[in-house]
Amino acid sequence: MSAEPSSTPGRLAGRRVVVTGAASGIGRATALLFAREGARLALFDRDASGLAHTAQQTGGIAIEVDVSNEASVAAAAQRAAAALGGIDGVVNAAGIMRIGPMEATPLEVWRQVLEVNLTGCWLVSRGCLPWLRQASGAAIVNIASAAGLLPNAAGLTAYAASKGGVVNLTRAMAAELAPAIRVNTVCPGMVDTPMAEGFRANVGNYALKRIADPDEIARVILFLVSADGSYVTGAALAADGGRSFH
Ligand SMILES: NC(=O)c1ccc[n+]([C@@H]2O[C@H](COP(=O)([O-])OP(=O)(O)OC[C@H]3O[C@@H](n4cnc5c(N)ncnc54)[C@H](O)[C@@H]3O)[C@@H](O)[C@H]2O)c1
Repeated sequence: MSAEPSSTPGRLAGRRVVVTGAASGIGRATALLFAREGARLALFDRDASGLAHTAQQTGGIAIEVDVSNEASVAAAAQRAAAALGGIDGVVNAAGIMRIGPMEATPLEVWRQVLEVNLTGCWLVSRGCLPWLRQASGAAIVNIASAAGLLPNAAGLTAYAASKGGVVNLTRAMAAELAPAIRVNTVCPGMVDTPMAEGFRANVGNYALKRIADPDEIARVILFLVSADGSYVTGAALAADGGRSFH
């Protein structure tokens, strides 16, 4: 049996998908994989130059947006739907990480982490709902973190709270939006992206003893957005090399 993942091209043929955080890391890897699988993409990020790069690689439309800003998200969702002729799926991968002891964490940092990571998922999903409701087989995937399941290290209060919030937000959305729209969370462990710089040596508590390539997370997201995941909703899928059980 081959160790290579199966590749059935066209699993997202004709699907219109919004990917946030598309300028970098997991969002960019997701956009690249989804484009290869036939999706048409609206790429959301606040980083214009990174977005332009992903747009050039995928043929997607680049839309500069701050996912924590209501007006910015509303305008971006309108533009995406107009350009694609509707929206069938949303991947919420935009996020930030701020680490530090509680006493040294200003309230402003706490609020910023919650606003981007948690409120951002809610705002982008809500902004896209009018079109998702018209689609058939619509799906939302929110990217949380293994820290949202098991925050077992110091310095994570804001980040872990935001990601635990994403896990439970996903369940609440899955309950409310069923049966029309499936909503799931992917909880990655450490992934080889700019966000993980400085943490790369810390793999001792991972069963697989290595960090993930962003494409390995993108393939899990593909499963959940595509018809392959048609009976999965409200799940928090740990794609963490065994961090959360090891
Ligand atoms: N890299 C990891 O080890 C890891 C582990 C677990 C979870 N995650 C989560 O995966 C998601 C993607 O992270 P990544 O590793 O690809 O990080 P990354 O830093 O490479 O990419 C994050 C992207 O989000 C964008 N972004 C940040 N704030 C934004 C805002 N307000 N509006 C619009 N765009 C914004 C950034 O510009 C960037 O392009 C995040 O939610 C992160 O918390 C990452």
